[in-house]
Amino acid sequence: MTTKKLLPIIALVIGCVLFISIVCFFMFNAWKKREVEFATHPATNQLIPSVKQAIVDNSNRVYGTYKDLKIPQTAPVQWTTPADEKGEPQHRLLNAQALYTQHCLMCHGVNGAGDGPQAHILNPKPRDFRLGIVKYTSTEVGQKASTDDLQNVIKNGIAGTGMPAFKGLGNHEIAQIVDYVKYLALRGDTERVVSIEAAVDFSEAQASKGNRQDLLEEANRFIEEDMPPIYDEESERLFDIWKKADSPSQIVEPEGLPPAPTESSLAEPSILSIENGRRLYLSKKGQCASCHGETGKGDGEQTTQFHKRPDGSNYEEPGLHDAWGHVVKPRDLTYGVFHGGRRPIDIYRRIYAGVKGTPMPAYGTSGLSEAEIWDLVNYLLYLAGDFPEISQETFSH
Ligand code: HEC
Ligand code: HEC
Repeated sequence: MTTKKLLPIIALVIGCVLFISIVCFFMFNAWKKREVEFATHPATNQLIPSVKQAIVDNSNRVYGTYKDLKIPQTAPVQWTTPADEKGEPQHRLLNAQALYTQHCLMCHGVNGAGDGPQAHILNPKPRDFRLGIVKYTSTEVGQKASTDDLQNVIKNGIAGTGMPAFKGLGNHEIAQIVDYVKYLALRGDTERVVSIEAAVDFSEAQASKGNRQDLLEEANRFIEEDMPPIYDEESERLFDIWKKADSPSQIVEPEGLPPAPTESSLAEPSILSIENGRRLYLSKKGQCASCHGETGKGDGEQTTQFHKRPDGSNYEEPGLHDAWGHVVKPRDLTYGVFHGGRRPIDIYRRIYAGVKGTPMPAYGTSGLSEAEIWDLVNYLLYLAGDFPEISQETFSH
């Protein structure tokens, strides 16, 4: 065959290959676009289909879709506004989504449900943001995390867990990611809260009890008239709670400084601070030992007992559980690793406001004074090995 005859065949082959690649490229992109979407919160699964769909529609109306994010009208201001921050909030949120996808999605998942592809190998599990609870905060009892708390956890990670420290990210990027974490938390939490409200009348369980046709008609009225304002109200209410956590009045700030461990306790001046810390630790008032164990190893009797869920039913396995339903061990206080930070002020805040979403109680509002909490901080730092010069005999009486 001559080269002349071959040329059109070669051109045809190249043409075909090009054509197929272009088609594949577009199909792949279209497939990818369809692939990533926000999943609806599992709390919607108890609802009859039309009400579940209405929750999806309202979520998209208020928060947008994965490909077309919206800043909720009920939270129209920039969430985190460092002084040097430029750019439209909308643009910042899109950037934030890209950063989150790159750095966080593998563990925390598309929806922030803590179910990314790497989640199954981790214990403790990555946080599900959609409950709106952050464990280690500087804020008052029951309050959400401040923007600073979230920035710090991303910058420093959580020692002793799979949550890494993102030292390579700039403050600017971290501020944006925090916006997106709050966005995911609000989106999921709004869906969860509205579903629980709607389930009172429109769950599958309700539908199976009475006349289904009547209920469907009633549901249509609810969807048209009541659901949109309820959805807006709830997203606004939840946003306001996040905003409140940034108010300086919500930060736990003790008035004084701790005494040195071998100085007199400010609560019980006749004994040393560290001695009083130990007494409180073992006392009925403190009850620390019932969870953390007499020696602080995290093996108190509550870790082997069976406990009840908030709805009154029993957990299948013994031990304490957190708000996400995972077994949670009281910290081994002799190990020297504090997940919530190991500065005295961090440990103070942990005892004062508890570990949110876990059985670790908030003692600041249930009986311990500032001076007593400082004594406990001294004792815990001793247990963690910070004061090797203090001998056992200190505690002889
Ligand atoms: C390798 C897995 C992994 C990656 C990547 C990761 N996390 Fe985490 N994250 C975790 C784990 C595990 C926890 C739970 C630790 C615990 O319960 O103490 C956690 C907890 C958190 C918490 C909750 C803190 C608290 O006090 O409750 C926040 C917020 C968080 N991560 C944000 C992020 C953000 C933002 C990114 C990306 C910049 C990220 N994480 C990347 C594993 C990861
Ligand atoms: C009902 C059980 C319970 C009691 C009582 C209890 N704790 Fe805890 N504590 C826990 C659990 C569970 C955790 C771990 C929570 C987590 O991080 O997920 C914890 C965590 C902590 C932490 C956080 C450590 C860190 O890694 O940052 C400190 C500090 C602490 N407890 C001190 C105390 C002290 C002091 C007392 C008594 C005044 C006490 N606890 C009483 C269950 C308890």
